[in-house]
Amino acid sequence: MPTALITGATAGIGAAFARRLAADGFALVLVARDEKRLADTAAALHRRYGVQADTLAADLATDKGITAVEDRLREGVDLLVNNAGFGHPGAALDVPIADEVTMLRVHCEAVLRLTMAALPSIRTRARGGVINVASVAAFFPHGTYSASKAWVVNFSESLAAQIPERRVRIMALCPGFVRTEFHDRASIDTSGIPGFLWLSTDRVVDAAMRDFARGLRVSVPDARYKAIAAVSRFLPHNLPGQILRRKALRAGRP
Ligand SMILES: NC(=O)c1ccc[n+]([C@@H]2O[C@H](COP(=O)([O-])OP(=O)(O)OC[C@H]3O[C@@H](n4cnc5c(N)ncnc54)[C@H](OP(=O)(O)O)[C@@H]3O)[C@@H](O)[C@H]2O)c1
Repeated sequence: MPTALITGATAGIGAAFARRLAADGFALVLVARDEKRLADTAAALHRRYGVQADTLAADLATDKGITAVEDRLREGVDLLVNNAGFGHPGAALDVPIADEVTMLRVHCEAVLRLTMAALPSIRTRARGGVINVASVAAFFPHGTYSASKAWVVNFSESLAAQIPERRVRIMALCPGFVRTEFHDRASIDTSGIPGFLWLSTDRVVDAAMRDFARGLRVSVPDARYKAIAAVSRFLPHNLPGQILRRKALRAGRP
């Protein structure tokens, strides 16, 4: 039975990956911080799909947490889904520097270290791979969140180009707005986001697994977001900055 390790597996996109991979017959290793929620998620997956679901409580914003997950990955897995992540409210200049550093640790350092810990066993098996959850935000400059996701895309693509084994795949997944706990947790106001732009977690994961099987290096689920990502190449690079500046002026902030 193949094994998949998923970070951020208790909510949103990570939980949808866990359901999908359990349905596909993967044994699971679920990673997140909240131990009770991990245990409940694992028990529900075992009940519903009959698969083994182990848990590993780890905070990927800490060296100890990353090291614990690296150790588990070195025992061998077939698929790693680097999914854990979070957002910040407000404009880049308002975010405390400590929160920015934490974001870089979870979105970049953890993704780098966990990918490198997983790859040797995956390459020995000559199949499987790594899915790194980035965002369409990677295609627009908008603070540390976008920059960290741009790193994830660039890192995944460059690594994929260096892997000689045909059936070992590294893919960056770039979803648009997805209904999860992400925005509430970050106190991000979503009232201005039109309904048609929201995607469901299951739809994102279905598209991701299809693109992964096809060997794509970057997956952008949904035609609307494919178009947005394509158009982003032709937009002025400072457009999001101009929009944010106008919003801040309207709100009476400098
Ligand atoms: N939702 C969107 O619109 C959207 C769009 C594009 C990309 N994404 C990306 O998709 C990924 C998943 O986001 P989501 O929307 O599914 O978020 P979510 O619903 O808030 O779930 C986040 C998951 O990550 C875990 N997590 C958060 N911080 C962690 C840490 N320091 N260490 C370990 N686990 C941690 C959480 O569990 P614990 O709190 O128990 O640790 C939870 O399981 C993120 O990388 C995000 O940037 C989201």
